[in-house]
Amino acid sequence: MSDNQEYFNQIKQECINECKTHSLKEVAEGMFATEEVADLFLKQEKEDEAYSFIIDLIGKYFTREAGGKIYIPGSGTGGLARRIMDDYPKMTVIQIDSSPKMSEANKKASKNYKNTDILQGDILNLKQSPKSVSAIISYGVMRYIPEDKRNNLVSSWALALVKNGIVIVGEGIAKDVIDGISSQGYASEKLFERDAKLFRNSLFYTLLKRYHSDNKFRGIVNGEASDNNLSFADVLNKIAGYAHGKIYVKVLQK
Ligand SMILES: C[S@@+](CC[C@H](N)C(=O)[O-])C[C@H]1O[C@@H](n2cnc3c(N)ncnc32)[C@H](O)[C@@H]1O
Repeated sequence: MSDNQEYFNQIKQECINECKTHSLKEVAEGMFATEEVADLFLKQEKEDEAYSFIIDLIGKYFTREAGGKIYIPGSGTGGLARRIMDDYPKMTVIQIDSSPKMSEANKKASKNYKNTDILQGDILNLKQSPKSVSAIISYGVMRYIPEDKRNNLVSSWALALVKNGIVIVGEGIAKDVIDGISSQGYASEKLFERDAKLFRNSLFYTLLKRYHSDNKFRGIVNGEASDNNLSFADVLNKIAGYAHGKIYVKVLQK
């Protein structure tokens, strides 16, 4: 990408600045505005290393043969849920997300998975929470919950767990969110962290918007793609790169 690198760096910086003005809702709705964008996004998301970290942690508590229920609040497009279902085929997975478009994209991407319910709703609406679950896995969600509601929510999950059940609360980069979670209602608490490659979904989305609206940028990206036998989305992904950061996870056991 050498010839165009400087130009791409400049566009990337402009897009990073633009990202700061996006709300979560705007990104979620925009990302799934068309099937093309949703498919691209689902493809790129797979390289995020947070998922393998969480799968490894679940493996400390359950064998692959374990049955039972797993609840995934804030399931998004279901990337994490599908990884869990691949590794724990006997578990039933209940997913809830407030975004209709995310839930729709999740249903489409998960159509070959039988042991899952994908529900749309607010995870703060506790009446909707599933009961008697073995594990509750929240990743990248707590930062969207108002700070004064986070501990009540995590405490309420203790009531939904079977004995020895676990809650995993994880975040990429946002350590303060994880530090603020207290273990009220649980018998034990452990903190884990790992360096990881993280997918930058807002940046990827902003570059895609730019690709569709800026003829010059589109032309150069398409040229780069055909010179290197790549798709235009691969080029955008190379421009965005992966953020290298830490993942922080608290595991609370009942
Ligand atoms: C960064 S995504 C995480 C996706 C998923 N956990 C994963 O790792 O594959 C955060 C998700 O939380 C959802 N979310 C945020 N606040 C929520 C709430 N109050 N109720 C339900 N979902 C919520 C958003 O719609 C978004 O899909």
